[in-house]
Amino acid sequence: MFQSMNGYEEAVEFLPATDTKKVEKRGPKVKFVILGVVIAAALISLMVGLLVWHFAYRMARVQKVYTGNLRITNYVFKDAYENSSTTDFNDLAGKVTDMLKNLYTSNPDIAPHFSECRVTAFSEGSVLAYYWSEFSVPAYQEAKLDNAVLELKIQTVNLRQRTVLSVDSFEAYPVDAQLARTFRTSSCSYFLHAKPGEVTKFFTPGFPNTAYPPNMRCQWTLRADAGHVIRLNFKTFKMDICKTPAGDYVKLYDSLSIAENRLMMTLCGSYPPSYNLTFFSSQNVMMVTLVTDDKGRQPGFMAQFTQVPMTTLCGGMIRDSGGVITSPFYPAHYQANRECVWDIQVPGNKLVKLRFNMFYLMEPNNSDATCPKDYVEVNSKKYCGEKQSFVVSSDNNKMTVRFRSDLSYTDTGFTADYISYDAQNPCPDQFTCNDRKCINKARRCDGWNDCGDFSDELECTCTETQFRCVKSQICKPKYFLCDGVNDCGDNSDEANCGCPDNTFQCANKKCVPQAQKCDQTDNCGDGSDELGCPAVVPNSCSDLAYKCKNNECITKSNPECDSVKDCSDGSDEDTDTCNCGRRPYSRKTRIVGGVNADTGEFPWQVSLHAKNTGHACGASVVSPTILLSAAHCFQDAQGVRYSDPSLWTAYLGLHNQATRTTSTDVQQRSIKRIVAHKYFNDFSYDNDIAMLELSSPVTYSDFIQPICIPEKTHNFPVGKSLWVTGWGALTEGGSGASILQKAEIRIINYNECNQLLENQLTQRMICAGFVSGGIDACQGDSGGPLSSLESNNKMYLAGIVSWGDGCARRNKPGVYTNVTQLRDWIKQNAGL
Ligand code: ARG
Repeated sequence: MFQSMNGYEEAVEFLPATDTKKVEKRGPKVKFVILGVVIAAALISLMVGLLVWHFAYRMARVQKVYTGNLRITNYVFKDAYENSSTTDFNDLAGKVTDMLKNLYTSNPDIAPHFSECRVTAFSEGSVLAYYWSEFSVPAYQEAKLDNAVLELKIQTVNLRQRTVLSVDSFEAYPVDAQLARTFRTSSCSYFLHAKPGEVTKFFTPGFPNTAYPPNMRCQWTLRADAGHVIRLNFKTFKMDICKTPAGDYVKLYDSLSIAENRLMMTLCGSYPPSYNLTFFSSQNVMMVTLVTDDKGRQPGFMAQFTQVPMTTLCGGMIRDSGGVITSPFYPAHYQANRECVWDIQVPGNKLVKLRFNMFYLMEPNNSDATCPKDYVEVNSKKYCGEKQSFVVSSDNNKMTVRFRSDLSYTDTGFTADYISYDAQNPCPDQFTCNDRKCINKARRCDGWNDCGDFSDELECTCTETQFRCVKSQICKPKYFLCDGVNDCGDNSDEANCGCPDNTFQCANKKCVPQAQKCDQTDNCGDGSDELGCPAVVPNSCSDLAYKCKNNECITKSNPECDSVKDCSDGSDEDTDTCNCGRRPYSRKTRIVGGVNADTGEFPWQVSLHAKNTGHACGASVVSPTILLSAAHCFQDAQGVRYSDPSLWTAYLGLHNQATRTTSTDVQQRSIKRIVAHKYFNDFSYDNDIAMLELSSPVTYSDFIQPICIPEKTHNFPVGKSLWVTGWGALTEGGSGASILQKAEIRIINYNECNQLLENQLTQRMICAGFVSGGIDACQGDSGGPLSSLESNNKMYLAGIVSWGDGCARRNKPGVYTNVTQLRDWIKQNAGL
């Protein structure tokens, strides 16, 4: 056995012979020979081991590259320094490299490993020099070199005596050697200087006609005149999906070196056009790099930049009684290395509170609550990360707000309004939360956490329609009892809902004999006793099992398109039917207030315009020629023949009603045929479904995609959150929206909802929304989709907007056509 830490100490140990008798019998000579052989073998392996160690560890060398910048104080920047072929550039670069070499070779931990260094660029201030230095170091000394090079920063004082350059700051940062080399040698290198008052464009190679090439390394050096900063904006950004650690990505640096400590942002995947991808440099330079791998081609990006005068102004003294403050350049990404202080003071008899409406100060891989990087500090408490709207208040008439960003990573920042208020009456005619947020009085003790800190739900007397949660003591509506959702947080609303022994509890809380589970009969009434049954039963499908093309039955819950082949003929994963419910833009836009949907976020949403009235109803794309909508939209009324296809025009790929005829994303079609459900009941709205056939097929795009139609056995559980979308009224009786709106709502237990809506529900209806009101579909949303994101990451049409008692009223959730219950009708009438 060989044991050594540093090569000075070695020891050899022998394994004991297992059979000593045998060894002894052979006599002394044989004994010595064997011993000799063993020793020789041991020595040889020792030598081999030493050699391997020597070559593999001591000799194996690692290429190390450091990059960074240093500030030269006794030179003044001139234009010639921008161009590396000028003599001015080369003169100064020579001085800098000499100085660096000197610095490295006079340090015993660095000198033996130094290979080369080079200056890549200069920029203003007085002169900043960007460089890289390359080293070749034995693997075991890598850490030591790292330390020595990074330590060099603090030795800058010595530098001044040895060279003609005065250097007052020095930064080094390790970079991936391979990556650094490919960037250096890449022909895809651009140097751009902003022209005053002009926009400079740049884009990925081949954009927009061809996809960017594989294994590409590009870099763009962006500059502005002295006294300016760069405003960079990505107009289009469509790259391959983000993969870690490799994949295709774009990095933005607030520097001309690719040092990670100056990285502003890493971009990958696709951003919808509405996403505000705008960045500002802190100085007059910026660097953009592109790395692509060997697969997954996409169009790439188109970016543009301009120069704007540098202002260090932000924050300030505020003496008004109310107003708005935002991070610099909000809603664009704020700059790195900024500090703003607002000193707010309201009249002496008032107090101040600050309400943050948007708050995005996110640093990747950093969830440190002490906010060591970017933060907002209010009254000495730091806030960072991504936050829902919140309120901070003062005990007096003053408030100090400080915003600070560090050198790396920027986000879109915050917007907040400050209000002065009366200490005696912080919320006139409203309820005051603990954090002094004001909420409508009716929201007190309603079982909903309207304050955000539950202060509106404390010290309440539960009414007869409420029960009290055990741990929090909060009163909640009785509808929440035993609905399968842990509303109390301690599960106390879901305890004691059980069924006696040997019985099975249905999703609707009914108890049925255990023997009835998986007997292919719907004993529960909601089919839940026939879900999740493991066996595949050939040729005898109950209504509740998924039926394969070859008539096999799958009793697993939601087997379609889940990437698992459940049918032996694979028909549950058929590529045609599973090609649906996809959203080309995976990113959510951070909308400034409101609930505007994003462009391309619901690409199956259709706007149906009736002649002379404009937008009247919504619909969903389910195939290139077929839309699903609500039957009640096509009932003749007030002398208008809504049932006549020629009355209607469908707009697909639409986002903003105002650009319906101008947007290139929109495809407009007339309607060839309308088939409303034969048993649609005008009075009860039972069977509220219709199928529309388009005059000609549409072409799918980033803005037009079909939504998946769920199988009739598909289960959308109570409490599941879904999206309802449309251009309908923004308030009850109000006018419609111009931008497509979205709202997140939850499925509500059928029986509870039926009680609330005075038994007006049929099995062809489902309820979704909030018992507390406030969020709902409204007039003009009818026919539109209730979209459900399923575990296979596809969106399914769970419902169709049908009716409601007013809009967003308390205890009046919205009612939707139950698509799974009408699955056969869709098959028969749309052939899908
Ligand atoms: N019937 C309405 C329409 O024609 C839709 C109503 C939906 N209402 C509701 N509160 N969810 O647009």
